[in-house]
Amino acid sequence: MSKYTIGWMPGDGVGVDVMQAAREVLDAVGFEAEYRPLDIGWEFWRREGDALPERTVQGLKEVDAALFGAITSKPKDEAQAELAPELQGQGLVYRSPIVRMRQLFDLYQNVRPCKAFEGNPLNFRDGIDLVVFRENTEGMYGGVEWHPVTGPIREALESHPNFSRFADVAPEDIAVSTRIITRKGAERIVRAAFEYAREHGYPNVTVVEKPNVLRETGGLFMEAARKVAADFPDVEMWDTNIDAMAMWLVKNPEDYGVIVTSNLFGDVLSDLCAQLVGGLGFAAAGNVGEGVAVFEPTHGSAPKYVGQDKVNPIACILAARMMLDHLGEKDAARAVEEGVARVIREGRYRTYDMGGSTPCSEMGRAVAEAAAGALGAV
Ligand code: IPM
Ligand code: MG
Repeated sequence: MSKYTIGWMPGDGVGVDVMQAAREVLDAVGFEAEYRPLDIGWEFWRREGDALPERTVQGLKEVDAALFGAITSKPKDEAQAELAPELQGQGLVYRSPIVRMRQLFDLYQNVRPCKAFEGNPLNFRDGIDLVVFRENTEGMYGGVEWHPVTGPIREALESHPNFSRFADVAPEDIAVSTRIITRKGAERIVRAAFEYAREHGYPNVTVVEKPNVLRETGGLFMEAARKVAADFPDVEMWDTNIDAMAMWLVKNPEDYGVIVTSNLFGDVLSDLCAQLVGGLGFAAAGNVGEGVAVFEPTHGSAPKYVGQDKVNPIACILAARMMLDHLGEKDAARAVEEGVARVIREGRYRTYDMGGSTPCSEMGRAVAEAAAGALGAV
């Protein structure tokens, strides 16, 4: 019997190519796993009206961790039009399966390391080493929204003094999304960031919010953060507003290390951080809670590159590295990281985004060989 059971979710489009490359790397470092394929993606929306079928949700309960490739998503009308004819008109609504997995399994940490590998021609600057901790279950992603705004919701809003400016707007002409921050949600993501900083030797954690305007939700997040920070006297807490942080990250990205923030701010900021180190081809994420964890490259399914064996698999390989680390396979994780670092540094293989023409599969093979070579040395 294998040591681990891994949920295998290539999903759509180039998700299949990059997962194949990651698999080669996992095999090269001797990772002993049984891979259990789990259905997810656009095909299942079209055929079954559910991009995350119930059998996949059950399957995720039985694996140690999962690797997830990419998902296609389309605007509301297109999504409806592509549904199988017998499913039309039943009121089915497409919902992002990755967001659902995060909420269903309470994967409250979205950990996104962004490191400038030496020799990467796409680095904005050398020496960047950032890790974004994005709260992953609440905030603007809570899914608590209304349109039109009627009934008790309307009445509740009207009882708020600041709503008077909108009181005359017709129900169908107003939409409301809520931003829900809980003390528990804020505390646990900040704690995860501080623990990571301590464990990995980062001297500080930057807490990013907007409490000067979002006084209640931003205020609660900051209050919770300060309380958690007091438990880590060895790690300094910096705090910055989201807008300023975007600016500082472009100006002085080397000054920062671990960053923690709420869901939507983390979504935006982590794309910014990814671009500082080469873009989405280098951006991996771990969705982590107390149970199963799901690792993914943060890029999408890139429909225009499907079937071309073209995209950069490094993000997915780095997601596999995070999975190894999470499972406690530290030597294998280090070997994968070293393999990636070596291939980028030597510069013989460059995918199209890096200005070269190395196919996805060849990049995977090159990293796999380098990782296998590094395994003995780590
Ligand atoms: C990400 C993505 C997702 C998000 C999308 C695909 C729903 O942008 O993982 O950052 O918004 O969280
Ligand atoms: Mg995003």
